Amino acid sequence: MSADAGPLWIFGYGSLVWRPAFAHVERHPGFVRGFTRRFWQGSTDHRGVPGAPGRVVTLLPAGADQRCWGTVYRVRPGSEGEVLTGLDHREQGGYVRERVEVTHAGGQIRDVLVYLATPANPEWLGDAPLEQIAAQVIASVGPSGANVEYLLRLHDALVDMGGRDEHVAALAELVRGRLG
Ligand code: SIN
Repeated sequence: MSADAGPLWIFGYGSLVWRPAFAHVERHPGFVRGFTRRFWQGSTDHRGVPGAPGRVVTLLPAGADQRCWGTVYRVRPGSEGEVLTGLDHREQGGYVRERVEVTHAGGQIRDVLVYLATPANPEWLGDAPLEQIAAQVIASVGPSGANVEYLLRLHDALVDMGGRDEHVAALAELVRGRLG
């Protein structure tokens, strides 16, 4: 990044909501319009392994009335290059960089970086019956830990910020019910 670039903002809607693990100086709950979150991306590097992928979230284009909640971060000035290198590595399993506008209690932030996965990537799993997605989440573990942890921590974080997500909540309820 050039020295005169404005602040770097990053929007997280998956693990980046509850485990950003990068240097930031501000964070706010916020939402993007026109997207919906789904557990449609396969994970063989974090929450599953090759041959037994876990399921993680991505953003899909949706109606303009749809809001997807997450956390928006302002990266610590001077750390931008290091943070992007780290995130490009962390999100390398099928995610690409996009730019979105995020709304939070303080207003709108334009040109916010987000990592999302499209059907064009080799790890893509796509839609499946919710019961099947729940079973896959329960069965999957990868280098970053259990897929169940990813789901439940995301659900709890979204509820805490007042951004409950119906797809995530339905899946969390199924998984919690099965695990007893
Ligand atoms: C994100 O959290 O914004 C991207 C997906 C993930 O790493 O879980």
